Amino acid sequence: MEHRFSTIIEPFRIKSVEPLGMTTRVQRQAAIEEANWNVFKLHAESVLIDLLTDSGTGAMSAAQWAAMMIGDETYACARSFYKLEKVVRDLTGVQFVIPTHQGRAAEHILFTTLCQPGQVVPSNSHFDTTRANVEFVGAQAVDLLYDGASDPRTDMPFKGDLDVRKLGRLLADRGSDVPLVLVTITNNRGGGQPVSLGNLRAVRDLCNEFGVPLFLDAARFAENAWLIKMREPGQGDRTASDIARECFSLCDGFTMSAKKDGLVNIGGLLGLNDPELAERCRTRLILTEGFPTYGGLAGRDLEALAQGLQEVLDEDYLAYRHASVRYVFDRLDQLGVPMMRPPGGHAVYIDAAAFAPHIPAWQYPGVSLVNALYVEGGVRGVEVGTLMFGRPDPDGHHDFTANLELVRLTFPRRTYTQSHMDYLIEVVGAVWANRAQLKGYRIAEQRAVLRGFTASLLPLD
Ligand code: F0G
Repeated sequence: MEHRFSTIIEPFRIKSVEPLGMTTRVQRQAAIEEANWNVFKLHAESVLIDLLTDSGTGAMSAAQWAAMMIGDETYACARSFYKLEKVVRDLTGVQFVIPTHQGRAAEHILFTTLCQPGQVVPSNSHFDTTRANVEFVGAQAVDLLYDGASDPRTDMPFKGDLDVRKLGRLLADRGSDVPLVLVTITNNRGGGQPVSLGNLRAVRDLCNEFGVPLFLDAARFAENAWLIKMREPGQGDRTASDIARECFSLCDGFTMSAKKDGLVNIGGLLGLNDPELAERCRTRLILTEGFPTYGGLAGRDLEALAQGLQEVLDEDYLAYRHASVRYVFDRLDQLGVPMMRPPGGHAVYIDAAAFAPHIPAWQYPGVSLVNALYVEGGVRGVEVGTLMFGRPDPDGHHDFTANLELVRLTFPRRTYTQSHMDYLIEVVGAVWANRAQLKGYRIAEQRAVLRGFTASLLPLD
């Protein structure tokens, strides 16, 4: 659509509504205390605007709901599978399409089939579940971003790019121990930052040179394509769909959490070209997911995904989505709020260490900010810092801290409106104005793994 006016409008209207949990500050204070100061334990009705994740939290279209009604629930070889298979083949060019219940199931099947103990899996950046699945088979997950790409303040258009020089060195040293190279589009761990087409082509060339397969973690493939169109010289005249197809054409296979750019609430995909690998993966899938034509999903889920994968590349939708993320980023930037630059595809990442420099990493500045945003305005973000990625020092000193103390405000797809964004900006602005009052936290109780989800915390006086 041509744009004559500056107001960002949602390119859809609302057919079905869901009330939000309106609460008072006193109620929110009680709720966060009840949740042991860990927002993962807040009940949904106590949250007004939920920016915990963009995964499975989006709104489906009328066409997706309609498609669900014609879902074929036949156990084996259902019609809905062949419809999905055709859509995925048309988009990605892969031969073998294997549905899974979500992204990590596809990762688990791929890595347990393809990787051996002692091997190395290089990536621009492994998402947590990806890293955990690589490590589960005894292989090593190595992140190879360009120097400076993890620094929130540097302004590079493609901070998700995989450093080809580092990759070249690794392949030259240990090429025979590398079962695959994995590129995550966009790079969720590093701020939702995109990977350029130029970088993907260069990685493909290296993989060809060393005879190593290239895989994509394609959870946010449409947002990545849009950011290539917006930011990469020479790509502006192409459609996002054309760019996405080229990205997929460069790889030998992919894993996908369809809960993001698949525009569905549940689902994942494994896409492969190698028939022998596909057969081994299907055999493994039967152990955990079900028959290979439904992979842990209902027929109606396959229908909704087939439709979602076609809708997500609509350019009015992609333009609106990025404009909305950019709008929040620009307004907060004007207030001086420190953030990961530039804005990525699905979230705004606040630099909590710079937001509250008086709180050291081992007193969880990200937790402090997340909790303050909740109490201030019922907004739920997520800490991506030392609570999530640090670990206790066995000698009883401060935690081993994470490299970055970020708070991710993640935007569900087609769910909140521009006025919700204006409200969010006001809430962050209010906490920013009183940032000197923010207090650190200590952990009262934690588990050995994935402590961020379940830890109990206590505010420090
Ligand atoms: N890969 C990426 C890049 C992801 O962001 C996620 C999930 C996964 C794989 C795993 O997919 O959840 O369907 O099993 N990210 C969510 C998030 C959880 O909040 O960022 P899944």
